[in-house]
Amino acid sequence: MRGVNTYDTFRAVITHAMSASSPPDAIIATGDLVQDETRTGYERFRGALENYKLPVYCIPGNHDSPETMAEVLNDPPFQVCGCVQLGDWSIILLNSFSSGDDGGRLSIPELARLRETLAANELSHTLICIHHHPVPMGSRWLDGVALRNPDDFFDIVEQFPQVRGILWGHVHQASDRQRQGVRLMSTPSTCSQFLPYSDDFALDGHLPGYRWLELRSNGTIDTKVVWLEDI
Ligand SMILES: [Fe+2]
Repeated sequence: MRGVNTYDTFRAVITHAMSASSPPDAIIATGDLVQDETRTGYERFRGALENYKLPVYCIPGNHDSPETMAEVLNDPPFQVCGCVQLGDWSIILLNSFSSGDDGGRLSIPELARLRETLAANELSHTLICIHHHPVPMGSRWLDGVALRNPDDFFDIVEQFPQVRGILWGHVHQASDRQRQGVRLMSTPSTCSQFLPYSDDFALDGHLPGYRWLELRSNGTIDTKVVWLEDI
């Protein structure tokens, strides 16, 4: 991608995370895993992770092929979409892929699944993962390819106070804010980053990065972003 070998940067990120003094319990891949929609791309993603024997939870982004992704990554330790129970927490993995659109949309069945899953897990703190940003990033070109129906999404989320956090990819930059007591976080890309608040497409100087999430039993989220330049 624009002179960056994204497979190399992806592996550098994974190597860094897995060499931490306290390695992760699971990996969440927030979409755009493969740019060229090839089966080989997903097999390469799988090959880079499967030896770690960790759960890898995946959601599709606008550049993915959801069908191919599901074929290659839908048996343990890999999972595409659905819901995961991790201790006191539920992690809901949403599909916002919208064919022919770089923006995203939650379909009526996907919205219904979100509502049903939240209703069935009211006692679990909940993290929702979705590829497209449901709130503006303040970047004109990126906000033109956001989630198209955020009101439908938040109308449901607001009915379930167990939702503690919402996490997305897509925007290639870190952000962290609150909305009605819910933590809203974007995670950086494992390749190049986009320049925040830019009206037009522009790359940021940041090198590859990733986000740590610590889901605490009291419902709080401890999180930090790691840039590989910090190593
Ligand atoms: Fe994307």
